[in-house]
Amino acid sequence: KRHDMRERILKMNKLAAKHFVANLSTEAAKAARGYASKRGLTREIIATYGIGFAPESWSDLTSFLNGHGYKNDEIVMAGLAVKNDKGHVYDKFRNRLMFPIIDVRGNVIAFGGRALGDDAAKYMNSPETPVFHKGDNVFGLNVAKQFGAKDGLILVEGYMDAVSLHVYGFPNAVAGLGTALTDGQASLLKRYSNVVYVCYDSDEAGQKAADKAIDILSAGGVKLKVLSYTGAKDPDEFLKTKGVESFKQVIAKALSATEYRILKARKNYNLVESDQTVEFLEKAAEILAQNPNAVEREIYMKRISHETDISVESISAQVNKLIYNKNRKQLKMQERKVQSVNKPDML
Ligand code: UTP
Ligand code: MN
Ligand code: MN
Ligand code: MN
Ligand code: MN
Repeated sequence: KRHDMRERILKMNKLAAKHFVANLSTEAAKAARGYASKRGLTREIIATYGIGFAPESWSDLTSFLNGHGYKNDEIVMAGLAVKNDKGHVYDKFRNRLMFPIIDVRGNVIAFGGRALGDDAAKYMNSPETPVFHKGDNVFGLNVAKQFGAKDGLILVEGYMDAVSLHVYGFPNAVAGLGTALTDGQASLLKRYSNVVYVCYDSDEAGQKAADKAIDILSAGGVKLKVLSYTGAKDPDEFLKTKGVESFKQVIAKALSATEYRILKARKNYNLVESDQTVEFLEKAAEILAQNPNAVEREIYMKRISHETDISVESISAQVNKLIYNKNRKQLKMQERKVQSVNKPDML
């Protein structure tokens, strides 16, 4: 029964996506086409991502789906319409450029809709539905996986960033879905790629989100690199104002998670003062101790040694102490588990 409902919602979503695509060629979509072209979206890229248009109407999609045999309650369950207090059902997406969110199997699982101007609600997204769990999906993986995602995915914040990267020759871009990156998304990325390039917005919110994403990806065992850029608010704007070559340089200068964390920590200390140097080295040791690769640790320790004029031996002693303590803690926890399994306490 539940399975049938899922199948029905997926069919409805696919039909809706086709309807949105058809809408984009109508007279009513003139402004939408203008907006898309102003944002640099080519015909080809619009077709590749299946971008469409929801017109300024309370019932355009709902009537269309009713005509195909779908009941209002089903349309609401699919997140394509909303029911108000009085029980009236109306289209959720109105006067928006529509980005279908398509999973790796090609199922249309949700939509993101961009207002055509400075609407208060810039994007509207499908709610959680029986076929859509935000925390388990990213935008654009269906396309990226056709273009060598395995060699590296670029993880960005916005739909527009992912699509724009593709326009500029980076089709291996995917976007989170407007919330903090989850473990589920991390494991999805890991399944489809050997390395993830994290490239969030440059504003404070974006950088905070990037830090969190980096932690989640590291914890999930995803190999990652961090892309840092200045002079633009997001990758889309960066490409438009600085061009492809500059972005290639950003990629060439990608930092490892450890490098990124150390660089960030260092900004908080004045290394001319010895007590601040001590504090920085404590922080750096904590960061290094999280890196399981001894060779990488040594490379970074040498750099830090050079910078602080403290010997690699001293830094290494501190790092090894932390690693030793961490391992001992883990061992104790395992022992405790083994003991509790052996103890017949329930009898
Ligand atoms: P941004 O505010 O950075 O927008 O949000 P953007 O992607 O750069 O959009 P443009 O360039 O102005 O078109 C990043 C992402 O956060 C989610 C969307 O997924 C968006 O792509 N978001 C943002 C929302 O869900 N709702 C909003 O109102 C804003
Ligand atoms: Mn759910
Ligand atoms: Mn942002
Ligand atoms: Mn943007
Ligand atoms: Mn942005």
